[in-house]
Amino acid sequence: MKIAIFGTGYVGLVTGACLADKGHQVHCIDISEEKIALLKQATPPFYEPGLKELLQRGVDSGRLTFSTTPDISGAQVIFIAVGTPQSPNGSADLSAVFAVAHTIKERCTKGQVVVTKSTVPVGTAHILKTILGEDIYVASNPETLREGAAIQDFMSPDRIIVGAEDKEAFDALREVYSPFLIRDQNRIQEMNCASAELVKYGANTMLAMRISFINLLSQLCTHVGADIRDVRQGIGSDYRIGMHFLYPGPGFGGSCFPKDVSSLAFQLREAGVDPALVSATLSTNSAQQHHITRTILEHTKDSEAVGLWGLAFKANTDDVRDSASIFVSQQLLKHQKKLYVHDPQATHNYLKVQPHATTTTRQEMLKEIDVLVILTEWNEYRTLTQEELTLLQGKTIVDARNLLAREAELKKLREHNITYVGVGMRAT
Ligand SMILES: NC(=O)c1ccc[n+]([C@@H]2O[C@H](COP(=O)([O-])OP(=O)(O)OC[C@H]3O[C@@H](n4cnc5c(N)ncnc54)[C@H](O)[C@@H]3O)[C@@H](O)[C@H]2O)c1
Repeated sequence: MKIAIFGTGYVGLVTGACLADKGHQVHCIDISEEKIALLKQATPPFYEPGLKELLQRGVDSGRLTFSTTPDISGAQVIFIAVGTPQSPNGSADLSAVFAVAHTIKERCTKGQVVVTKSTVPVGTAHILKTILGEDIYVASNPETLREGAAIQDFMSPDRIIVGAEDKEAFDALREVYSPFLIRDQNRIQEMNCASAELVKYGANTMLAMRISFINLLSQLCTHVGADIRDVRQGIGSDYRIGMHFLYPGPGFGGSCFPKDVSSLAFQLREAGVDPALVSATLSTNSAQQHHITRTILEHTKDSEAVGLWGLAFKANTDDVRDSASIFVSQQLLKHQKKLYVHDPQATHNYLKVQPHATTTTRQEMLKEIDVLVILTEWNEYRTLTQEELTLLQGKTIVDARNLLAREAELKKLREHNITYVGVGMRAT
């Protein structure tokens, strides 16, 4: 099947590379000359595990092509996968989506199916239909992949949400996804466009709410002598609740949760529905970021130099959009701290936003600092080497992910007289 995709970001590029790998002919379009130049050389413009190999295969096969010119001729399905960032009033900024819609409108031919993969508010498909006209089918297919596991998620989806109003659109999307559903065609869930649009906001907000809830409990733990590790285990063992997304931490970030929760609150307000529960998810998240920052500052009273391990908003990505590291860095710099930073993948993106930090290797950093802060759950931060333990002797670790909160690790920290401050647990 011939497919066109607008936007070669985390979603559009992974979508294109996976669709091409399953045999579709995919043409990816982006306004960024720089990105397209890299992609033509099969070089990913961002880090995503497994993407480089997939991209190379697609380009070599001739099934995956790139350009800045919006060539959609012959494409049966056209995906829109451009960004939908947060506007100042909290709503989703749809200017890129509508710009693409107008570009398509100038070139489309009868019967093409235009599909939003971007996360867009309820009602957007309806507006797109108005722009594109009666001859074009419109569908909503919100993407559910996770950065860091994007290829695995796309190749083996737990569900594919398809919203449409016409048989032709449903049929086209069934054809797009049939190679991914060989064992279980029922993973496609078909509904109307408004429902599909709302699924994405509902899912992201539910996950963000869980994070805010466990963060709230973790703050209470420190006041009442409870330990969030035990509390989490106890709550999550209830099969109705489960353990996922119940990790206390520095607050959620990334390019999706903050803006999507904010957009849902906006949509609820617009509809006259009380958004209190959703709004509290955001304010609790902000409170958690402040709480973690206060904790760090309390432990850096006499110290000038702080080290940050982990800049990406989560492990296995180089994405720092709305990452806790950005907020924490700003606050520490305001308090005249000298910052040393390390991340396995995200340093270059972080420095674009926060150039006032010094990058080092993780060992070199430890010679300079008095307090080490762990902000991202990269696996490589889960244990300290003997050399690192020696360098940290007599110093403090603020572990905003509780990565080292295991008895074997804590024992080593005690032996080296290292003060350990986790989230929602007693400092040791
Ligand atoms: N990143 C994720 O994990 C994720 C997961 C699910 C859904 N989403 C949603 O998918 C959408 C895209 O997210 P992303 O993270 O891939 O964004 P991104 O910022 O990484 O990529 C967006 C791309 O669109 C390009 N673009 C902008 N205007 C364009 C235009 N007129 N024509 C062609 N290209 C244009 C940009 O240059 C950029 O390369 C958002 O709505 C997001 O909420 C993201």
